[in-house]
Amino acid sequence: MLKPKASHPQSSLVVLLTGAANGIGRATASELAARGFRLGLIDREASPLEDLAAVLSARGAEVGAQVADVRDGGQLTAAVAALETRVGPTDVLVACAGVGGLSTATDLDLDGFQRMLEVNVLGVARTIEAVLPGMFARGRGHIVGISSVAGFRGLPWMPGYSASKAAITTYLEGLRPALKRRGVRITTVFPGFVRTALTADTPFRRPLPMMEPEQAAHYVVRAVVKRPRDYTFPLSTALGMGLLRSLPNALFDLAMDDAGPKALTTDF
Ligand SMILES: NC(=O)c1ccc[n+]([C@@H]2O[C@H](COP(=O)([O-])OP(=O)(O)OC[C@H]3O[C@@H](n4cnc5c(N)ncnc54)[C@H](OP(=O)(O)O)[C@@H]3O)[C@@H](O)[C@H]2O)c1
Repeated sequence: MLKPKASHPQSSLVVLLTGAANGIGRATASELAARGFRLGLIDREASPLEDLAAVLSARGAEVGAQVADVRDGGQLTAAVAALETRVGPTDVLVACAGVGGLSTATDLDLDGFQRMLEVNVLGVARTIEAVLPGMFARGRGHIVGISSVAGFRGLPWMPGYSASKAAITTYLEGLRPALKRRGVRITTVFPGFVRTALTADTPFRRPLPMMEPEQAAHYVVRAVVKRPRDYTFPLSTALGMGLLRSLPNALFDLAMDDAGPKALTTDF
């Protein structure tokens, strides 16, 4: 378990969180607020975002909220400036905004793929770009990028989502040394399946063991506090997907030949 708020030396840090209004981001905002972190919340819909900010403020949290689309660098820069005026300079960025989607051989859904690349890859890069000048000026900062175990290998029913998460993982890895030299640390987080809007419509053949957003949030907060290079959770998924990642290609391909029909009720 994490230490209680009072003994936590980082609890007054400012965390800027994208994708804050729903799912893992919303639960993470709640747990961070409960632990005394100051929060700048960003999402693209005003109503759920303002609702969350009001709930957290009523509980005594110091919190600001700004609507911005992570695909728009100008909106992000303005949102970061407004939030930093409200809650202080960003110590930690949790880049959580993301979109997902399935595709089939007969419907590659390239529009959906484009959206995933724009939000999950470029959106994260744009958010990092918006906070970096301040972090460089202060000589410190921490960037937590939410990737996915789905990016460990190409998964047959979501090649676009897998590709977007592999891309952001590699991007963060490539960025790491240059940022480290300027005092900014990068943590890449790899959640397993979480029960959110992103997974709600997946036509799984059998109910899949999934974390609740609050459980996932607990791990994300641990990544904020412990600042590891990489963090995969839960342990069972880390072990299972770790094994899948290290399989020789021939074995992986054999396993995947069957995986789609076994996992989903729909053709792919
Ligand atoms: N759920 C899982 O099993 C799982 C597993 C591994 C990794 N992840 C990753 O975890 C992160 C959070 O996912 P989640 O499951 O919590 O999904 P979610 O419940 O759909 O939350 C994602 C949030 O990001 C927002 N968002 C989407 N596009 C945006 C944009 N262009 N600009 C600003 N905000 C935007 C969404 O707003 P709207 O609701 O308006 O779209 C939503 O509030 C994502 O990066 C996802 O890839 C999820």
